[in-house]
Amino acid sequence: MQKNNAAITAVGAYLPEFRLTNKILETMVDTNDEWIKTRTGIDERRIQKGEGLASSDMGAEAVKDLLNKRGISPEEIDCIICATVTPDMLFPATANIIGDKAGLKNAFGYDISAACSGFLFALTTGTSLIESGRYKKVIVVGVDKMSAIVDYSDRTTCVIFGDGAGAVLLEANEDGLGVLDSILKSDGSGRNFLHMKAGGSLKPSTVETVMAKEHYIHQEGQTVFKFAVKGMADVSYELMQKNNLTAEDIAWLVPHQANLRIIDATANRMSLPKEKVMINIQKYGNTTAATIPLCLWEWEKKLNKGDNIILAAFGGGFTWGATWVKWAYDSK
Ligand code: UT7
Repeated sequence: MQKNNAAITAVGAYLPEFRLTNKILETMVDTNDEWIKTRTGIDERRIQKGEGLASSDMGAEAVKDLLNKRGISPEEIDCIICATVTPDMLFPATANIIGDKAGLKNAFGYDISAACSGFLFALTTGTSLIESGRYKKVIVVGVDKMSAIVDYSDRTTCVIFGDGAGAVLLEANEDGLGVLDSILKSDGSGRNFLHMKAGGSLKPSTVETVMAKEHYIHQEGQTVFKFAVKGMADVSYELMQKNNLTAEDIAWLVPHQANLRIIDATANRMSLPKEKVMINIQKYGNTTAATIPLCLWEWEKKLNKGDNIILAAFGGGFTWGATWVKWAYDSK
């Protein structure tokens, strides 16, 4: 029997309106536009403003955008998987809250916590649900409200992160198109270099943990950088080798947008020219689980049916991976 592939059949996104520029950051911490641009590639990031708004609100908008573009009703969705490290609450899952806000009355949902690799991990999981033949329409959302966990007095992290959401719809494909392969990796010993110290079962929230700023991102930038450069480049190359893909075969690299220098290193390792690399870090910064679907959304009109696309990520955990997608539709 011919195996069903899972193909991406629609992409949606949401970006908050407020633009936190490098110039504004210069008034908040001891930094400057030149340092931020040369060390990271970022000009500005979007920030979700407003009382009572959370990751689920951005996720729900991305889902509504996707349903609208695909022309289907929310009741048709079987499952929603949400990749995030900034859930609305520790529990219940943000996927369920997005489902409620977007009217997915017949979908079950759950969250995946794999930081910047979260979208790839969730995409692989969603792909298996479709491949099994048990579910017909699965939504994978990558969303993060990083501004909720950034310390805006810490110049080493506050210049990097932004807020946003992206979502894809997965459906069966019998023409050999869709998500074809994935290599995913985790190494929990990396937890010391990128984490949030308090608020979990290891160190529940107390007045002391708040005073010690332990509910913000803690990142040892240089160490993470070294692992990220090697991890993302190596796994992307490994995926190419495994599937006998040459640089000529690949139409696009869709890298996690953490740092322009990490993206360049990955493209170099794959021998890919700059024109084949999706880069929007200058506009949105690092939106964690949202970077990859935000790229797909922005480049959607340039993608052609049959294009070979490599998605690649590295993030907290450590987690990293690469996924090979044969694009399933023309949307011009
Ligand atoms: O997405 C999840 C995974 N995360 C990543 O992939 C992030 C990986 N890490 C990075 O992207 C980079 O390490 C950073 C962008 C975080 C930092 O860049 P770096 O080139 O590694 O800088 P550094 O930490 O080595 O710092 C160099 C200098 C230091 O000053 P001294 O000690 O040389 O005097 C820092 O204090 O730059 C200073 N610095 C800044 N200066 C101006 C650090 N942050 C800033 C800043 N503005 N915002």
